[in-house]
This record gives sequence, structure tokens and C-alpha cells, in this order.
Amino acid sequence: MTASTTMTASTAMPSILVLNGPNLNLLGTREPATYGSATLADVEAMCQAVAGKLGHTIDFRQSNHEGVLIDAIHEAGRGFQSGTVTGVVFNAGAYTHSSIALHDAVRAVDVPVVEVHISNVHARESFRHHSWLSPVAAGIIVGFGVDGYVMAIEALARKAAAKS
Ligand code: DQA
Repeated sequence: MTASTTMTASTAMPSILVLNGPNLNLLGTREPATYGSATLADVEAMCQAVAGKLGHTIDFRQSNHEGVLIDAIHEAGRGFQSGTVTGVVFNAGAYTHSSIALHDAVRAVDVPVVEVHISNVHARESFRHHSWLSPVAAGIIVGFGVDGYVMAIEALARKAAAKS
């Protein structure tokens, strides 16, 4: 890293990665009784608004592909090391319940990850009760609808402020 990039990393606003997994691109039309009527674009706008107030920027992403999510976690790990990334808000969708690879990815890097679920997964089918992410997450927010994303961003910003 050059002297000038070091300066940029330490003076630029820290970023929070908000990472969304499979089928979350369909928010708003997908099972609205369970997930509500807000679209993913609405969620992104909410995240940007709260992050701005907390002196953070948001890197908002969604993918239906496990490997893309893994790569994003690795990238966030590198960002945390260099001081540009504060943490990750991660709604891994159904991969939460199935992906040991995502568990390993979060475990392999040093960046706080807050696991978020819009619905209360524990009040639903039993196959949603197990999470491969919970044991490696810094915290978990479930069942508060899309407000959970806002809560997770607030928690990560507070954690970063306590550290500095
Ligand atoms: C979800 C819950 C998961 O069980 C489900 O597969 C999703 C969304 C939630 O946000 O409530 O895709 O992560």
C-alpha cells in the first residue's frame, strides 16, 4: 500500500457491507405476508439513510450465488484489515440454513458480521431453526422486518465507535 492510499483509508468514511443472499432481490413481491412490502431498493435507501447519520457509507449488494457471497465476505475481511470496512450486515437467505461454506468464510476472516433475518425464523418451519452463521456471527437480529437492517447498522457503528 502506498502512503497516499494509506491516507485515504484512514480519512475516508468507513463502510458497512450490507450483503443479501438468494431470493432477496424479490422482496416486495415475494410472500409479502412474511417479508412485508418493502423492496430491496427500499431497504437500500433505509440503510443509506441511517448510515449517513452515523458517519458511514453503505456498500449494498445482493446475489443468488453462494460463491459471490463468499467472495464478498473475503473482500470485507480485507477491508476490515485495512480500516476501510467496519462490518457486515448479512441476510444470507436460505443459505443460512445450508451453507457450511458461508460459515467457513465468516470464520476465516476477521470482520464483525451481524446476521439478519426479516422474519422470525424460529417461529417458522423447523428447517429454518438452524443457522450455520449464528455460531460465527458477532450478533443476530431476527423477526423485526426490514428494520432489522437498520438495527444491525446501528450496532456495527456503535461497536466501531467503542473500539476507536
Ligand atoms: C430470511 C429467512 C430465510 O429462512 C429465508 O430462506 C429467506 C429470508 C429472512 O430474512 O427472514 O430467504 O433470511
